[in-house]
Amino acid sequence: MHRILAAILIGAAVAVAPAAPALALDDGLALTPPMGFNDWNAFGCDVSEELIEQTADLFVSEGLSDAGYTYVNIDDCWALKDRDPATGRLVPDPAKFPSGIAGTAAYVHGKGLKLGIYGDAGTNTCAGYPGSLGHETLDAQTFADWGVDYLKYDNCYNQSDGTQADYVRRYSAMRDAIAATGRPIVFSICEWGTTQPWTWGADVGHLWRTTGDISDNWPSLRGIIAANAPLYPYAGPGHWNDPDMLEIGNGGLTPAENRTHMSMWAMMAAPLIIGTDLRSASPETLAILTNRSVIEIDQDRLGQAGKVVSDANGLMVLDKPLASGEHAIALYNSTDALATVGTTLGGTHPWRLQDVWTGAVTQARSHVEAAVPAHGTVVYKVRPIRDPGPIAPSVTVGGAIGTVTPAAGIPLTTTVTNRGVGPLGDVSVSVGAPAGWIVTAATSARARSLATDKSLVTTWTVTAPATVTAGSYPLTLSTSYTWSGRRRSSTASTLMASVVTPPPGGTRYLSTVRAADFTNASGPIELDQSNGGAAPGDGNLITIGGHVYTRGLGASAPSSIRYYLGGECSTLTTDVGVDDTSPDGAADFAIYADGVAVATASVTAGAAPQSLTADLTGAAWLLLSTTGTGNADWAAPVLTCGEAGPVQPVERTLFSFEAGTDGFGIANADGGGSVEPTTAFHTDGAAGLLVHTPVNGNWFGRALDAPLDLTGTSGLKFDMRVETAGSVGEIAVQVGDAFTWCQGGQWTWLNPGDSRTISRSFDEISCPSGTTLDKADIRAVWVYLNTGGNVAIDNVRAE
Ligand code: GLA
Repeated sequence: MHRILAAILIGAAVAVAPAAPALALDDGLALTPPMGFNDWNAFGCDVSEELIEQTADLFVSEGLSDAGYTYVNIDDCWALKDRDPATGRLVPDPAKFPSGIAGTAAYVHGKGLKLGIYGDAGTNTCAGYPGSLGHETLDAQTFADWGVDYLKYDNCYNQSDGTQADYVRRYSAMRDAIAATGRPIVFSICEWGTTQPWTWGADVGHLWRTTGDISDNWPSLRGIIAANAPLYPYAGPGHWNDPDMLEIGNGGLTPAENRTHMSMWAMMAAPLIIGTDLRSASPETLAILTNRSVIEIDQDRLGQAGKVVSDANGLMVLDKPLASGEHAIALYNSTDALATVGTTLGGTHPWRLQDVWTGAVTQARSHVEAAVPAHGTVVYKVRPIRDPGPIAPSVTVGGAIGTVTPAAGIPLTTTVTNRGVGPLGDVSVSVGAPAGWIVTAATSARARSLATDKSLVTTWTVTAPATVTAGSYPLTLSTSYTWSGRRRSSTASTLMASVVTPPPGGTRYLSTVRAADFTNASGPIELDQSNGGAAPGDGNLITIGGHVYTRGLGASAPSSIRYYLGGECSTLTTDVGVDDTSPDGAADFAIYADGVAVATASVTAGAAPQSLTADLTGAAWLLLSTTGTGNADWAAPVLTCGEAGPVQPVERTLFSFEAGTDGFGIANADGGGSVEPTTAFHTDGAAGLLVHTPVNGNWFGRALDAPLDLTGTSGLKFDMRVETAGSVGEIAVQVGDAFTWCQGGQWTWLNPGDSRTISRSFDEISCPSGTTLDKADIRAVWVYLNTGGNVAIDNVRAE
């Protein structure tokens, strides 16, 4: 059966990488992709023996170890900043690991599990702890002496000339040092895909990162899948592509995205390294992480990563041959709407399809297909069968609809397709909509019969009520039909309809108004910052010709952003220009009201911003368009609808640093650090505050002479720029006459030179149990910065 299947899977042509090198370490380790936990994604530098041991306990008590999870891995920040002066050895931080790594390893081993640690093929780790470059032999021996079973080996401060030869040399030095200890240690190469490690990693390590760091959001997940999936020829027993650790459970992904994460990692034969806090993981998170059917696909002993059978228009099909002779077929929809995804299996026999998430079994003549929700993945285990017998046919119902506006008839198309053996009889399709919506069929919603591979296409008109509020609304597409003579079945899908409504009356920054849709050359349109890369929120403060703005839209030309105004708005005023992050950019800006250009400007990089005013009277739609190249900013855009008023949202500046430090200082003076006024960084006004942060972090801010009343505001904001370093920050307020300390709202950034408005809602700040954050009685405002270097702050405000 295996031979037949391998030969008959057919798909669109995709770029296939050259064959993988046959070499592997051949030491019997990682014959299936490693499974375990690593603290980095959920905890950053906040690692400890207690966390590792509690995680090991949970591996056993929550069934994770039974499901195959074995390695409990410590990431960066476990060591002291200096080696032992006498022995030259790395020293575990005794505050974090009171029993040392050896003691922690013993505990983890006692649970029947294995322990992993983190090192770096450079002079320092990424967080600034000692690296192993030039210390490979001693460090490998130290890890082996401690009982370490897995080493993740990073690439910061690498002193490299950037050549692949140098990378191979640095990573091979640690491979050889590990081998010399005689201890079996899984070796995880972490050089972020920089020198195509898939072409050399198989005889150096057991797995290699193929991309930069994952983060807990959809664009990151989508980007990593796109980069890693085509590398399938390079994976195999003992040598795996590593698309980075799992973000499942960390809150930034929807349930469908979390299942896509798990499904696609399994299909790509990726290591399954949990990256969430298991002490507070929800039952849903644990259910996804321990789904046996999906884990079986990942851990299949054949060790083949899924072949990319097709990849077009955001829809990808992967085919992973399994040791049983069956195949796992993934139908992955990376688009933002419901989509029907499939591939032809061919062959002379029909196919049995088992959905690995729902367990449902259907049969198909020759085409495996599903209507897949936005960002979702359906995985089927498939095998040929002689006779479909009583198995129900595979029937899909898909649909598409445009943006919905109040009381307007919007066309919807539904498509019901019979993929099963034999015709369907008495087919009907219906659309369920929220209360008050009207759905009418414009063409027939019934078919007397539907032969194999035939579709019933129906067009409808969908009208939302005049009073509908903006948001995403489910439309349920259902079909019912008879098959095999008399049996009656039904199939349903959910299509999300996006409703936009006119902005409320008044005058407000356009960055606070929900757009109907957008196109952009790179990543999302950023709100109140310039465009960065693919991820949301990765830009900088909008800066045009040296002029900094804290409000606006960061586009990347060519781009378009549409807003529904419903005839209720009158004017848009905005500055426009090429952001200073695009020194070679040149962009044309145009504002359209119902398709008519009402204001235009052409701006080149470095030039001063230009101001535009557009008359939008009576227009149903507003379109902001840029053409050309570079990061193109709509700076401080202000829209007036109905009656004009003060610009919303109103911010209240608490400290502007125009006259000096405004009383800011250091909370823990013996921890080091200092502040001084600066004119080198400022947003509003001419000055800001420069903070010199000590290596081990400190709090900066001030106690207040009188209680500050922030009633009616929802959070604190300030503008920041990292000058030389900076990774993690937090804010805190002290409340009431007992000076209760409420803190939280962590943020991270890694690149020197980054600037951002840090905006943290009071909801993100937690107070000691039994106390509350009384906004009327704020006694001190503090900012925490955890790394050495200079960080500039301006305009601390409440909104
Ligand atoms: C790099 C790695 C991450 C993590 C951090 C720790 O960014 O790619 O996975 O280990 O360093 O500092």
